[in-house]
Amino acid sequence: MDSTGARPYRVLQISDSHLFASKDSKLLGLNTEASLALVLEKISREQSAADLLLATGDISQDGSAASYRRFLTHIDKLGIPSLWMQGNHDLTAPMQLAMGDLHALSPCSRRLGAWQIIMLNSAIEYQVSGEFAAEQLTFLDHMLMQKADHALVCLHHHPVKLGSRWLDHQMVSNAEAFWRCLASYDQVRGVVFGHVHQEFSGRHGSVPLWSVPSTCVQFAPGSHDFTVDTQAPGYRWLDLHPDGHITTGVERVENMIFEVDLSVRGY
Ligand SMILES: [Fe+2]
Repeated sequence: MDSTGARPYRVLQISDSHLFASKDSKLLGLNTEASLALVLEKISREQSAADLLLATGDISQDGSAASYRRFLTHIDKLGIPSLWMQGNHDLTAPMQLAMGDLHALSPCSRRLGAWQIIMLNSAIEYQVSGEFAAEQLTFLDHMLMQKADHALVCLHHHPVKLGSRWLDHQMVSNAEAFWRCLASYDQVRGVVFGHVHQEFSGRHGSVPLWSVPSTCVQFAPGSHDFTVDTQAPGYRWLDLHPDGHITTGVERVENMIFEVDLSVRGY
């Protein structure tokens, strides 16, 4: 509850599930299907009243129709409406085919009371680093022009440097244009992203920003070169309060040993 006594909207973020066409395939030694299932089981135990689920990209590792269909099957068990976005491993056409009408794919937006959730596509197909095509920034501008009281903006790639050399080469290349657009409006209360497979919180000017652990393999914060971390997968919850403030936290799967191949130097 906030000072007005109104309930906040509860939004969940999951990211980078990297599913394959086969549910037995592994990424860096870890079965991505099994770890996603564990994170979603945790969500279903802990989040009985969530309003919206955000899947912030790299849903699939191989862009296969089968991987998106299985992701949908998992998500539908939660019974929470969801918004999806593309990551650098995803392909728009099979995503659209798999997801049906109940969910929406970026660029898209959803209203929750005084809040507007805006999902952008920062991925160019078959390119690892982030980049906003012109129509994504136009969409962002048009959505913000609608002047909801509060906005949460979501993308796959990081729009700021994290202090990790190899990952910072992959950040959104035209992030200045993104931040310039946000600076033209005063209702943006937060930015969330995926891609970095680690928990991060920071600020760009007055705008707070957060990332989320992957539902599979984690990357070590601050690493100069590609380095896998041993932390558990997890999800982020965000409470969007009617007065515009956001409270948020990360929950990770507990009491599990995740077998990851720490010798791998890239993915
Ligand atoms: Fe990823």
